[in-house]
Amino acid sequence: MMLELKDLTVNYLTDRGRLKALNKVSFSLSEGEALGVVGESGSGKTTLGLSLMRLLPKNAELLEGKAIFNGLDIFGLLEEEFRRKIRWKKISMVFQGAMNSLNPVIKVGHQVAEPLIEHENLPKPEAYRRAEEALEQVGLNRQVFHCYPHELSGGMKQRIVIAMALILSPKIVILDEPTSALDVSIQAQIINLLKKLKWELSLSFIFITHDISLASDISDRIAVVYAGEIVEIGPSEDVLLNPKHPYTKELLESIPRITLDKLPSFIAGSPPDMVDPPKGCKFHPRCPEVMDICYREEPKDFTVSKQRVRCWLYND
Ligand SMILES: Nc1ncnc2c1ncn2[C@@H]1O[C@H](COP(=O)(O)OP(=O)(O)O)[C@@H](O)[C@H]1O
Ligand code: SF4
Ligand SMILES: [Mg+2]
Repeated sequence: MMLELKDLTVNYLTDRGRLKALNKVSFSLSEGEALGVVGESGSGKTTLGLSLMRLLPKNAELLEGKAIFNGLDIFGLLEEEFRRKIRWKKISMVFQGAMNSLNPVIKVGHQVAEPLIEHENLPKPEAYRRAEEALEQVGLNRQVFHCYPHELSGGMKQRIVIAMALILSPKIVILDEPTSALDVSIQAQIINLLKKLKWELSLSFIFITHDISLASDISDRIAVVYAGEIVEIGPSEDVLLNPKHPYTKELLESIPRITLDKLPSFIAGSPPDMVDPPKGCKFHPRCPEVMDICYREEPKDFTVSKQRVRCWLYND
């Protein structure tokens, strides 16, 4: 296994108290595998990505958790060592909204080449040549090198930030809502590009999205996140066709289906306040299958066919 994350638990210190952003999040990722991380806004998806990049904001505290990348305990490394060996080189990230934070006054080709010049001390001509290759790799014309961000469409800018994430040849790329600002046809093109890169480079992806149908298109496995916890994880097909957790079931019910004479349902209630989350199972106030134990005790993880599910329904 290339990456093994175990029991990641992260709080944010806020003026209202401790906000419990992630609670015992575990998964593994193998080479060439795409893991879709699906959850509504505020469920902790970005926090998960930033944790793996060790770029959490100052007010975050990593309470618990171990991340083993190819045998290396990456949360245990000194910052200097992590920067030298792992960040961008082995694990990189396309940040949420990154395509809108490209530097407006620097040519995009230079922005793509920058890590090679800064981190790798490559001479400029060599770095620029590699940046041109990277542009082609993400399906852009070499001429785009000389453009400024405002001269490019949304889809092209998204390709630029993907090229930036790839420039140091990482093994894992975390993509945080990479297509949510794009219209549907462009979104499909970006997904196709990601599939091609995954195939050509045996890249692993952690694909973060609020859209479970989008995740299903690219992911080998899907992790469903609710209130800072992976409530269900398993092969995409199994999670989609045979969901086990009540939240996953509701999430799938809420997808519009044009062939059915039925309006999509909406998940009743609202996501919890993570400073003061519900006791027991955090989903209990919204769960149609709630039982007595759910009010009192945090559910454990259970294995149900090919899925791992954090729900008392599967306690035997
Ligand atoms: N720097 C921060 N300080 C305090 N709370 C934060 C900070 N960043 C995120 N949060 C809170 O942590 C929770 C998880 O946020 P986030 O990881 O961004 O979720 P997602 O990406 O799924 O929308 C949310 O309740 C959010 O408001
Ligand atoms: S543990 Fe209980 S409340 Fe939580 S999802 Fe399962 S049945 Fe519903
Ligand atoms: Mg986010």
